[in-house]
Amino acid sequence: MKKITALLLSALLVLSLAACGNSNQNTAEDTPAETENMAPTTEPAGSSVESTVESAEGEIESGETADAAEAGNSNILIAYFSVMETDGVDTVAGASRVAVNGEVLGNNEYIAQIIQRETGGDLFAIETVQEYPTTHDPLLEFAYNEKADNARPELATQIENLDSYDVIFLGFPNWNADLPMPLYTFLEEYDFSGKTIIPFTTHGGSGFSRTIQTISELQPNATVISDGLSISRNSVSGAENDVVDWVNGLDLTGE
Ligand SMILES: Cc1cc2nc3c(=O)[nH]c(=O)nc-3n(C[C@H](O)[C@H](O)[C@H](O)COP(=O)(O)O)c2cc1C
Repeated sequence: MKKITALLLSALLVLSLAACGNSNQNTAEDTPAETENMAPTTEPAGSSVESTVESAEGEIESGETADAAEAGNSNILIAYFSVMETDGVDTVAGASRVAVNGEVLGNNEYIAQIIQRETGGDLFAIETVQEYPTTHDPLLEFAYNEKADNARPELATQIENLDSYDVIFLGFPNWNADLPMPLYTFLEEYDFSGKTIIPFTTHGGSGFSRTIQTISELQPNATVISDGLSISRNSVSGAENDVVDWVNGLDLTGE
């Protein structure tokens, strides 16, 4: 009898493990692969070879964007939008993620952290209520549809004490040769009149496209620095010194 009970229990265990495995399967075959709409650029084109799948999944989970504002006590805010991808390319050869000291971050998240460290400003992650897909093709399709719909994704994080900031670093990936749509929500939701906006971007070859002009149009009463920092996603992991030099060359008085 004991033997039969043990056999039954083992069978149950095997069945429930198999069920778990199925629920984790990727159903991406429903999703047609999209091609990134790379705008013409004067900068070196980013690698379009997306072959190396790295095995840092444990770290990737810990790399989620930080919740809203983090530490700092100054007139500087570093606001950024970043979607760390978990598939497709490795962290060295041009992924939408970068591995630093055992932590895996989105490209713009990483650059934002360097700027925060250099300036002592407050870090602010622009996040949306609707989470973005973190695998490449579904993310491309999602973002493409959002742009086609001229969507304004609802934001999940809000800036506190906007009045206390004179300088706003604004970081984002180039998506479809444009600002990601949450940046439109962000720039329409807040009034940065009288403040200085310093854009930075990471991209796959298009640089800023027209995004700096768009920021100026959405914030006509802010001073928008026209030579922001643009970094190819292929160079993000080695960009620390360039970011530091760039920050140190800026006038951050907000005047
Ligand atoms: C939906 C989507 C659209 C993109 N479109 C472009 C583009 O038009 N031009 C370009 O240079 N890079 C494009 N890229 C590449 C990203 O700008 C690049 O991977 C960036 O470093 C991602 O930054 P993040 O990790 O902070 O999100 C696109 C990436 C995604 C996910």
